[in-house]
Amino acid sequence: MDSIIIRGGRPLSGDIEIAGAKNAALALMPAALLSEEPLTLTNTPRLSDIATMTTLLQSLGAEVSALQDGRVQAMACHGEVNHVAEYDIVRKMRASNLVLGPLLARTGRAVVSLPGGCAIGARPMDIHIQGLEALGAEVALEDGYLHATAPRGLTGARVEFPFASVGATENVMMAATLARGTTVMTNTAREPEIVDLATCLRRMGARISGDGTGEITVEGVDRLHGATHPVVADRIELGTYMLAPVIAGGEVTCLGGRLDLIGAFAEKLDEAGVQVQETARGLHLARRNGRPRAVDVTTAPFPGFPTDLQAQMMAMLCFAEGTSVLEERIFENRFMHAPELTRMGAEIEVQGGTATVQGVAGLKGAPVMATDLRASVSLILAGLAAEGETQVNRVYHLDRGYEAVEDKLGGVGADIERVPGR
Ligand code: UD1
Repeated sequence: MDSIIIRGGRPLSGDIEIAGAKNAALALMPAALLSEEPLTLTNTPRLSDIATMTTLLQSLGAEVSALQDGRVQAMACHGEVNHVAEYDIVRKMRASNLVLGPLLARTGRAVVSLPGGCAIGARPMDIHIQGLEALGAEVALEDGYLHATAPRGLTGARVEFPFASVGATENVMMAATLARGTTVMTNTAREPEIVDLATCLRRMGARISGDGTGEITVEGVDRLHGATHPVVADRIELGTYMLAPVIAGGEVTCLGGRLDLIGAFAEKLDEAGVQVQETARGLHLARRNGRPRAVDVTTAPFPGFPTDLQAQMMAMLCFAEGTSVLEERIFENRFMHAPELTRMGAEIEVQGGTATVQGVAGLKGAPVMATDLRASVSLILAGLAAEGETQVNRVYHLDRGYEAVEDKLGGVGADIERVPGR
């Protein structure tokens, strides 16, 4: 397995291009199952999770072509659609469950293995199931597979989500596009990726309103048609690279970055004494004077502080002046980066869903282990300012969600290299 080696202490300078959002693309790709006509996505990121979703869609009968170096994904599902999503593919990535709603809407049945993915909590499927049952599906669990059927098709209904789950909102919204009648979903997730999916579905002929608010209305239509859609910028990659100059020093412009994607996070940086400037090219970050200040952070669904930036923020707070309290409210068991950061000299105490970080003047490089996607990148960020060499092992999680991290950080002056595994 590959490792990443970082020799810390180099200030950064230059531009980093922000890719299309992994989490948006992973919801947009299954939308291709809803139509017999092709769906083309532009600005797709080149990531192993996208390759996994490609394999899954192909196993369901879709033709998928990666064009322009993988930046464009063209998907066509005009033939027979297979309704079984096999364990061998689904276990690699939780977002595989996003084929459930589209398969059910298109074929009236779906058999989808219970998903795998990052080990950051229990992450059950009950909210997805409740939503699809409200539309008239019958769902049973057998041998580790969800068996969903709707022999007479789905019917529009009121769906009240007990929690604003991102995946459940996406699954039920996609399923409702082809249901008979109107679906009103309340307490829906408001993430930019939901808005991006709704925008794409509208381009395909769906009638959706209210996305980005807590209530989405979908008027079912008989069929959806083909479309071309650009994937929204990756706000998590954006936030990650915004932290790089704050931790390492120097200044970086994140090309294509927008404040509306990342408001709560930018507010926390402001509170920490770091200015974020929005320009026509993107978001500009600079650390000119001393260490950032400690801040308290609580993760929450959008527009709150994203759980997917908690690990990276912790890496920054390890260097801050003062004591910060981080509360993780979305996933249990999402502090696996804390002991690794501690090995580099950070002072962190974890109790349940709360981590208390006492900022220190500097960290020391060490061999560390990447435990999940965002944890991996938090260790790389910490390595940028640590004294000596940091070796981040088991970086396969990183490649699921970050495109060419060593090129992007190396391009702005970081001393970073990938060492191929044996
Ligand atoms: C998505 C993102 C992930 C991000 C998360 C929260 C994708 C591909 N992944 O994941 O990167 O960290 O949103 O912003 O977009 N839950 C249930 N029952 C369910 C569904 C969820 O209890 O049926 C719980 C989960 O265990 C978790 C919380 O709800 O504690 C949030 O999950 P959800 O919003 O569904 O996240 P994902 O869509 O899996």
